[in-house]
Amino acid sequence: MTTQYHEPVLLQACIEGLALKPGGTYVDITFGGGGHSRELLRQLEGGRLIAFDQDPDARENAKALNDPRLTFVAANFRHLKRYLRLYKIDTVDGILGDLGISSHQIDTPERGFSTRFDADLDMRMNQSGELTARRVIADYSEEQLHKLLGMYGEVINAKTLASAIVSARLNRSLETVNDLKAVLQRYAPRGKQHKYYAQVFQALRIEVNEEMAVLEEFLTQVPDALALGGRLVVMSYHSLEDRLVKNFIKSGNFRGDIQKDLFGNEIKPLKSVTRKPVEASAEEISRNPRARSAKLRIAERIEDKAPRQ
Ligand SMILES: C[S@@+](CC[C@H](N)C(=O)[O-])C[C@H]1O[C@@H](n2cnc3c(N)ncnc32)[C@H](O)[C@@H]1O
Repeated sequence: MTTQYHEPVLLQACIEGLALKPGGTYVDITFGGGGHSRELLRQLEGGRLIAFDQDPDARENAKALNDPRLTFVAANFRHLKRYLRLYKIDTVDGILGDLGISSHQIDTPERGFSTRFDADLDMRMNQSGELTARRVIADYSEEQLHKLLGMYGEVINAKTLASAIVSARLNRSLETVNDLKAVLQRYAPRGKQHKYYAQVFQALRIEVNEEMAVLEEFLTQVPDALALGGRLVVMSYHSLEDRLVKNFIKSGNFRGDIQKDLFGNEIKPLKSVTRKPVEASAEEISRNPRARSAKLRIAERIEDKAPRQ
């Protein structure tokens, strides 16, 4: 079941990156099909795993693991510290994040994540959320659409497309994947339609799920949540996410500005373990095309004097 739900990417590199202590406490913030969690539990002796996923579909996979060391949290990982406090956990030995959506989510037509099926424009990872892609398309101003298409999708003609969406919605409401594709097809570069649609859909998905804000909120909590020497292992699939992770590891902030104390020592809570991000091998990519854009960054919690709240 798990392999159909989602094939885990860079599995061994992620687990090695966590440098497991046999009896340690770990967090998987993106449980999904549980591929990474299962391997983590296999390699732990005792220990504990707290696994987050905001998609209720993931809960069944957690139940199927049937492991008393696993606590599944059906919540957004932006609430990391709150749940650790709830479970009376002060700090953990490692945190793993495999960002974005699972194959299960993209392959379920009615979720509206895929350009391959017609469905309502939904794209919520947590279906009790209020904002859907349909509402973004219907309610956002031309400027807002321009900004999100350019920033989150790197859509080449974002301004023109935003204007086209606003004109199209005056004539009829755009409610489904096919309604939106009918607008997009006139603006997609010839021969690159698939990539163009994927960029637009990525932009909408990031907006609907507030993915950038959530990642920032999560990363900000990591220094408090990790024990000294504890590991942060994060895999991202697009450059904006990777930049946030990279800058935060480098400097403890999202601009990447390294602060120094009076003696010239860097004040930062994390130290990068790998010089460059780890990427999937050609063999893994041929087996699992989703691994193509994965960038894995690994960091260790170090002592710092930075004030935090
Ligand atoms: C790429 S999949 C993880 C796959 C998993 N590593 C595996 O091996 O099966 C990402 C998962 O994280 C969940 N997710 C994404 N953003 C989340 C968030 N902010 N809070 C909680 N879960 C989130 C998604 O619902 C999805 O199931």
